[in-house]
Amino acid sequence: ARIDLAIIPGDGIGPEVTAEAVKVLSAVLADEVELALTEYSLGAQHWLATGETLPEETLTRLRAHDAILFGAVGAAPGDKRIPSGLIERELLLKLRFELDHYVNLRPSKLYPGVGSPLAAPGAVDFIVVREGTEGPYAGNGGTLRGGTNHEIATEVSLNTAHGVERVVRDAFRRASERPRRKLTLVHKHNVLVFAGHLWKRTVEAVALEFPEVTHDYLHVDAATIFLVTDPSRFDVIVTDNLFGDILTDLAAAISGGIGLAASGNLNMDRTAPSMFEPVHGSAPDIAGQQKADPTAAILSAALLLRHLGQNAAAERIERAVEADIAGRTGAPRTTSAVGDAIAAAVS
Ligand code: NAI
Ligand code: MG
Repeated sequence: ARIDLAIIPGDGIGPEVTAEAVKVLSAVLADEVELALTEYSLGAQHWLATGETLPEETLTRLRAHDAILFGAVGAAPGDKRIPSGLIERELLLKLRFELDHYVNLRPSKLYPGVGSPLAAPGAVDFIVVREGTEGPYAGNGGTLRGGTNHEIATEVSLNTAHGVERVVRDAFRRASERPRRKLTLVHKHNVLVFAGHLWKRTVEAVALEFPEVTHDYLHVDAATIFLVTDPSRFDVIVTDNLFGDILTDLAAAISGGIGLAASGNLNMDRTAPSMFEPVHGSAPDIAGQQKADPTAAILSAALLLRHLGQNAAAERIERAVEADIAGRTGAPRTTSAVGDAIAAAVS
């Protein structure tokens, strides 16, 4: 077998954590699966050097890979040389939209040994299935300038029956494969009536295909309370692009922090490669110092293997991460020392 991966290390700590994820992938696949790697230079630094965000030709080459491993992109906040939002919109969101990453999968698990101010180990074990191609992030808006204090800016949330149904069905399927078989729709349908009711009706319709899965509903504001006070009530959360963005940062905070949070941007129809990345950004404040925790990137590589059907290898990585976390004493290790330890444990 052979896996043909695109690697987009990106900016800041992106290259540091991606190197460790690749180290662990190589170790776990060893001689069983051939790993082909092609690195792509993209991100804020690449834009400064070339003026390119995501050229069509690069996008075409990316489409040919089995999957993409992504580090992080973005300049230091306040870097005036880079227009605000340029890299997010023209690179990150463009990749998700062009490659039709309609399932943004973000697991949250509080491993034993991880300190959480809020929850006991075992209390947090859920996944968020965030819609990835629509909602308020679809670029459906504009601004009308009518003079001082008369500007009108809109950012209209786009929700299609097709888009909602495919992500809801994916969430139900994932719920049906988990022991607790529970799905929670999070939205705000008391106020966002039109989009909210489309989501609610869709969940009720798709639920008929999954009689073994129980489902309930929470408004997003109530969901933020329960994530902090009673996270064990969640198993699978399905939600739109914006609510999912916010809830998953909160989810990371209650389950050991941003250094552990992994994600997959999935095209479940497999018409284009899926992309796997840590939830965190390029962390300019610690970049180049070997201080970044590569665990989120390594767990993202495990999600990648699972998406490609390499379940045993994915599980080996997750076990090794769990053991590594349990053994953490508080003395800081370098980024590559963490990668070395996990790579040694999986080989
Ligand atoms: P950030 O996630 O880069 O950093 C937030 C805080 O968490 C910082 O104090 C950082 O040092 C710490 N942190 C992040 N990852 C860590 C790790 N692996 N180990 C230890 N500490 C870690 O978010 P911030 O500062 O808001 O954004 C920095 C840049 O990253 C911006 O340009 C932003 O647009 C971009 N960004 C990119 C993302 C992506 O590529 N998917 C996602 C989020 C932000
Ligand atoms: Mg975010």
